[in-house]
Amino acid sequence: MPSSAAEAQDNLPHFVSQNGRHAFIVDGKPFLLLGAQVGNSSNYPAMLDQVWPATDHVEANTVMVPIAWEQIEPTEGHFDFSFLDTLLAQAREHKVRLALLWFGTWKNNSPSYAPSWVKLDNKRFPRVIAQDGKQMVSLSPLAAATLEADRKAFVQLMTHLRDVDGTRHTVILMQVENESGSYGTDRDYSPAANAAFAQPVPAAVLKAAHKPAGNWTQVFGKDAAEFFQAWSVSRFIGQVAAAGKAVYPLPMYANAVVSDPVHPSPPAAHSSGGPSQNVLFIWKAGAPAIDMIGPDLYWRDYERYTAVLGLYSRPDNALVVTETGNDQPYARYIFATLGHQGIGFSVFGIDYTGYVNYPLGAPKADEAAFEPFAMTNRLLRPMGELIATLSYAGKVWGVSEPEHEHSQDIDMGDWRAKVSYGLPAFGPTEAPPGNKTPKGGVLIAQIGKDEYLVTGYFARVDFLPGKGREHVHFMMDRVEEGRYDEQGRWQFLRVWNGDQTDWGLNFTERPQVLHVKLATY
Ligand code: DGJ
Repeated sequence: MPSSAAEAQDNLPHFVSQNGRHAFIVDGKPFLLLGAQVGNSSNYPAMLDQVWPATDHVEANTVMVPIAWEQIEPTEGHFDFSFLDTLLAQAREHKVRLALLWFGTWKNNSPSYAPSWVKLDNKRFPRVIAQDGKQMVSLSPLAAATLEADRKAFVQLMTHLRDVDGTRHTVILMQVENESGSYGTDRDYSPAANAAFAQPVPAAVLKAAHKPAGNWTQVFGKDAAEFFQAWSVSRFIGQVAAAGKAVYPLPMYANAVVSDPVHPSPPAAHSSGGPSQNVLFIWKAGAPAIDMIGPDLYWRDYERYTAVLGLYSRPDNALVVTETGNDQPYARYIFATLGHQGIGFSVFGIDYTGYVNYPLGAPKADEAAFEPFAMTNRLLRPMGELIATLSYAGKVWGVSEPEHEHSQDIDMGDWRAKVSYGLPAFGPTEAPPGNKTPKGGVLIAQIGKDEYLVTGYFARVDFLPGKGREHVHFMMDRVEEGRYDEQGRWQFLRVWNGDQTDWGLNFTERPQVLHVKLATY
């Protein structure tokens, strides 16, 4: 390999993990992924004029775009990458990175994005059969011909990408399939699947589950069908990803339909076999080439949203919210995502093609609707590298406003922070009423001894001594307001004092960033 190509390969985006935490390394530095995903049919050159104004408006640093199997291999063995080439050129002009979403065998359980020669040929590419014998729309994850055809197409895609982007790395991440699994059945009951289901559970699954040997029913009882399906789907997708990485080893991920963490749904309701939270251990064993599994989050309420953040932030899984609704209530959750050691947050449905997915997202898809996401990205993008670096070191905390509680406590060891919502910028600190619609959030990062970066929106922050030091005399020695420039350098603007600090640190709709030096006396 010529040395420049070898260097480019060394410098490939990748995930690193240490002490149970993660970072996404892009251009050799920790990268905070601030994503915007375009609509499901915006993957054609004629649509891009309606994509860039929206993704530019929200100031995303990563634009997520589908690449459909039907689009690149309309007839078997004949490939067309013209959309990808157009997309790459325009993304570079707009100075954004790309994540490509491989819509192949699964797009929300269906093969709708597969070419007709695949999705209509039940004989060669058999479908999932439900327990009652009904043929489902999903393709069977156990069909060797389907795996072979999908894998071939994905390898062609990765080969082309390597050839046209292998040194620039405009594309930093690949999503392999989309919300895989099947609705309406807990597993495939085709003859091939029934035969596999009767076999002993593979050693890799037993090991991950810490269980003794047996067949699926013996080992997993009532969960057997879903766990088997997760194994089948993850093995399929893991093999597609591994084959793609063999030609061009970009980091790869899968996105999940999550099961309701408060009232768990039956498997058939949350796309059985996909990487819902209850089968992450199976996916890790079945698809080691998948670097990260992200939740698609369309619950608006704090309880379920933040519960899922906790479930996908694991020592063996970096947390990225791979999709979230594009309506105002979701925007504040970027702060809680960062507080759960998140390394990315991507909003779905960012373009001006006119489609809205309300009630999942906003009732309108325009600049005003997207503004809350523009606000958070505007605030965080210039300091993305710093946040990602400090998060990897375990020095980042973040919270989002709940609906029913109006203050939160952040424990940072030596110090703690009380976050309150709905208080005026001048006046007492008791009984915060909350914002009329929850929209507040706070991010704190430790930048030195007794020194913290503090920012947020629609919230008040009060620092207090940490546990065991409650009685020390303390004060804020210095509160600097500044901003990070495009190179991530701190630019001093002024010192906050007097009214600006007497009633805590009050964040409004302005993108204000503070460096706070705490001291005892
Ligand atoms: C989640 C899917 O992953 C997206 O592609 C999209 O279909 C949304 N649901 C709904 O708009």
